[in-house]
Amino acid sequence: MTTAPVRHYLRDDDVTPDELTALLDTADTFKKDRTGYTPLAGKAIAVVFEKNSTRTRLSFEVGIAQLGGQPVIVDGRTSQLGREETIEDTSRVLSRFVDAVAIRTFAQRRIDALAGVSRVPVINALTDEFHPCQVLADLQTIRERKGRLAGLTLTYLGDGANNMAHSLMLGGANAGLHVRVSAPAGFDPHPEFVAAARQRGAQTGATVELITDPHAAVDGCDVLVTDTWVSMGQENDGLDRVGPFRPYQINRELLARANQDAIVLHCLPAHRGFEITDEVIDGASSAVWDEAENRLHAQKALLAFLLAPDGR
Ligand code: CP
Ligand code: NVA
Repeated sequence: MTTAPVRHYLRDDDVTPDELTALLDTADTFKKDRTGYTPLAGKAIAVVFEKNSTRTRLSFEVGIAQLGGQPVIVDGRTSQLGREETIEDTSRVLSRFVDAVAIRTFAQRRIDALAGVSRVPVINALTDEFHPCQVLADLQTIRERKGRLAGLTLTYLGDGANNMAHSLMLGGANAGLHVRVSAPAGFDPHPEFVAAARQRGAQTGATVELITDPHAAVDGCDVLVTDTWVSMGQENDGLDRVGPFRPYQINRELLARANQDAIVLHCLPAHRGFEITDEVIDGASSAVWDEAENRLHAQKALLAFLLAPDGR
């Protein structure tokens, strides 16, 4: 008897458009109430951090416990990973103890290497290239505020080459959103990921545009998103990550160019006064706290999808 290949969630296009809709439906159900539903009973899930985290750690640890499972938080820096045990050997050992692995790490090739030898599902809890768990929560938040996803226009402003920009392109295209990325010169998204997002968009009716002028990018959009200009690991990369980014700050003037009922998202942590102003993040258009909460519901849906696909 052959067994089905292990399903991983390493980037946003690892789920089909239909699977994405089903995941968001489950996330909404969990948000309403699924107390007593314990599909992870008897299962342990390792959550490995090679970078800092507040929301991702909390949402995985709480969510796994709510589903009846045992979360095992592994600090990469104090585990043998921090003493250069290879990611492949670490993965082989993790597979003998746990039923799934979520990991926050650096290059995507590192999570690909871990997944390549894993017997259990691997979830991307953020890499340099992608943050697909965050985008599940973002899509849930947009849909609950707007009632739909397909056909809406989402504008991402800031570092177009970071994990959030790439995941919003891929995940947004998967959901049928029109995604605009507006970044200063030299900070455009990776062309390979733009092509992948456009390819997925051909199935869903989504478009992906790179629009350097932030005003043009925001005109008539329904959702504005930003993120730090200095992602984890980029602190000393020698690039000016403030000056060229100033015109891309989400402030009252820029927000005024969007549709009147536009919402603002930020994965957090926010750097107030840099990529977003206090009056916007604390204002009526901001959905950032719901967005943070939805990490819990969306990741529970993802865990149930990967570990209990028959719904038990
Ligand atoms: N948005 C997000 O991933 O937050 P943390 O870095 O706190 O996990
Ligand atoms: N782009 C940011 C996201 C943090 C959740 C980073 O990688 O640091």
